[in-house]
Amino acid sequence: MDGKAFRADFPIFEIEKSMYLDNAATSQKPKCVLEAEYGFYEKMNANPLRGFYPLSVEATKAYEDAREKVRGFINAASVKEIIFTRNTTESINLIAYSYGLNNLCRNDEIVVSITEHHSNLLPWRMVADRTGAKIKYLYPNKEGEFDPAAIDEAITERTKIAAMGQVSNVLGSLNPIDHLIKRVHEVGGVAVIDAAQSAPHMAIDVKKMNPDFLAFSGHKMFGPMGIGVLYGRKELLEAMPPFMEGGEMVDIVRFDYTKYSELPHKFEAGTVNAGGAVGLSAAIDYINKVGFDTMNEIEESLTKRAFEAMKNIPHLHILGGDSAEKHHGIISFTLDDVHPHDVSAILEADGIDVRAGHHCAGPLLEFLGVNSATRLSLMFYNTEEEIDAFTKSVASIRERMGFND
Ligand SMILES: Cc1ncc(COP(=O)(O)O)c(C=O)c1O
Repeated sequence: MDGKAFRADFPIFEIEKSMYLDNAATSQKPKCVLEAEYGFYEKMNANPLRGFYPLSVEATKAYEDAREKVRGFINAASVKEIIFTRNTTESINLIAYSYGLNNLCRNDEIVVSITEHHSNLLPWRMVADRTGAKIKYLYPNKEGEFDPAAIDEAITERTKIAAMGQVSNVLGSLNPIDHLIKRVHEVGGVAVIDAAQSAPHMAIDVKKMNPDFLAFSGHKMFGPMGIGVLYGRKELLEAMPPFMEGGEMVDIVRFDYTKYSELPHKFEAGTVNAGGAVGLSAAIDYINKVGFDTMNEIEESLTKRAFEAMKNIPHLHILGGDSAEKHHGIISFTLDDVHPHDVSAILEADGIDVRAGHHCAGPLLEFLGVNSATRLSLMFYNTEEEIDAFTKSVASIRERMGFND
């Protein structure tokens, strides 16, 4: 089972003939998304939220309709809880600067897992450095799994923030965020969930999940680059100061007085990325049309195909879980004696695009005892032929590098 039937939705596959297996870095964009963003600039380009003339009103409506689409996508209670940002990184920095710096002090604790992408780690280190709070790391086992008891122990009365990604961008593991959220709420802290790798693959319901903040990027879920989302609980966002100051986030400015706009605009300083928001809205329509069930069925089948073949390649070591089900479309690996950059260069020569390096997860790689790794990451539009070409190429690498065992 594979995604052949959907390839025609993605114009890039007509032009670019290499096999794209780096989907965790960014997804490809369906035609409907490209057309939606183009259509915004073609038919309704004016600065939204500023003009009273019809074109600007239309641009504003398109932008705010996109916000409503995102609200529905994650089942938030109100559009006031949906802040448009550039990406996951900016969303988490917004929380760190606006909430973290203003609510933490010396000896408070921030609990963060070592499997995090740097975007959900460095902002917390910055908050700790500036406030005197302490970072407390959560360690998984070698398979990338967290023990709920260790979460209970790490989160104490001093914990003000607990941050965790829903799916690891290196291991593909699904983390116990429900447990983390419940526990941090017991001690009166807030939970920050990085959904960058989960939003493209699974339904998120913030009413059920109950995070205080949740972040994701449009470009990883078939939308354009440059548009991201921060969900935040209304009471928290209302009490937080703006992250950036300037136009569009303010209602009244006098020499000695400023009245900030209501949510969500208080957090959206400057001209917004309305074209990106419209593109993201089209991406959500596309996801709803294909359906996560169909996407997951294909992705699970492709992951299994890749995992089973990789398991049998001599000298290949898969990072993380010992079964395909634990990988959610992401399989990082090392190959004895061959640097991951050489692995990816040889794959590239065979027309296969994958990522090699530290995957912006330095502490996790350090914990696993590797400097870098090669990562295969799948999307529902990938095919069995691509998986087979990938595993065949990987299986030949050591021999091509001159090793004969
Ligand atoms: C888990 C995770 N968090 C955060 C990010 C950062 O996303 P962005 O670069 O879109 O801000 C990524 C990107 O790869 C990621 O995989």
